[in-house]
Amino acid sequence: MSDWAIAAGGVRKAFGEAVVLDGIDLTVAERTVFALLGPNGAGKTTIVRILSTLIPADAGELRVAGRDVGADPDGVRAAIGVTGQFSAVDDLLTGRENVRLIADLKHFGREAARARVDELLGRFDLLEAADRPASTYSGGMRRRLDLAMTLVDSPPVIFLDEPTTGLDPRSRRTMWEAIRGLVAEGTTIFLTTQYLDEADHLADRIAVLDHGRIVAEGTPAELKRRVPGGHVELEFASATTLRAAADLLEAATADEERLALRVPEDGGVASLRRLLATLEEGGVEVEHISIHRPDLDDVFFAVTGGATEEALASR
Ligand SMILES: Nc1ncnc2c1ncn2[C@@H]1O[C@H](COP(=O)(O)OP(=O)(O)O)[C@@H](O)[C@H]1O
Ligand SMILES: [Mg+2]
Repeated sequence: MSDWAIAAGGVRKAFGEAVVLDGIDLTVAERTVFALLGPNGAGKTTIVRILSTLIPADAGELRVAGRDVGADPDGVRAAIGVTGQFSAVDDLLTGRENVRLIADLKHFGREAARARVDELLGRFDLLEAADRPASTYSGGMRRRLDLAMTLVDSPPVIFLDEPTTGLDPRSRRTMWEAIRGLVAEGTTIFLTTQYLDEADHLADRIAVLDHGRIVAEGTPAELKRRVPGGHVELEFASATTLRAAADLLEAATADEERLALRVPEDGGVASLRRLLATLEEGGVEVEHISIHRPDLDDVFFAVTGGATEEALASR
């Protein structure tokens, strides 16, 4: 297992009666991004905590950065950085003081610490806000500060537990760029996420976690091939127009009750134009159009035949 940055076999963990991880096998090649994709409660944080030595597994073999997690937890700790779902940022300190604290804990010399802190603050676009208390930071700034703190001593393996959950789209993009930058430098990243598009953008390989088991694993392309593509939903003012449109679009499925038509469609501009042109030429008026991209629920439906519990609850 020594060529892998991370290798886990037969990992089990129960809290009391509740089996949270039920035999997990996974490997992550060096200098790649691995995304563990799963809904709330799937066991993502639990596996991150086990791999990063915070809690022990009940069973299984675990190696991180060439060290055995059980036998050499200190060695593992020295080789990893962890950014948790809940931030390690101290609100009372400024951004600069937060990063400096870590540099001091890692025994950087005075000058080296100052240079490293400035470099990291600059890299994550935090120089301007560096001397404000972290309590005044936005969610996206806090996540970036947290990541800067994780990177002080350039660990070769980094765990990012839901780094963008709760962030607005712009902050997500900034975080994605920061993560891509790390990969380009040769860091190995173990990422957890609830978003298919995030895993798709960032990961070399994706594993889908469901009820403590990995139910699918592969490259983003392999995974998406198993998931039905996106679709466009068209809504109409009357049953007559709905039927006229359905006659024009062979691949569509009609929902008579909602006066809606679902058309398999990748959402690309060219094909949307063709779709609308077909309807216009046929003299059919569309009231409303919406584009649906495949998401976690579609993945779950494809690989487990069932919806996520959240999707079920919201139905
Ligand atoms: N310390 C703990 N004690 C008891 N149950 C726990 C503990 N930590 C996690 N769990 C349970 O394990 C399951 C998986 O949790 P978690 O790993 O946090 O999932 P995720 O990060 O995918 O949302 C959940 O049902 C959670 O309630
Ligand atoms: Mg979690």
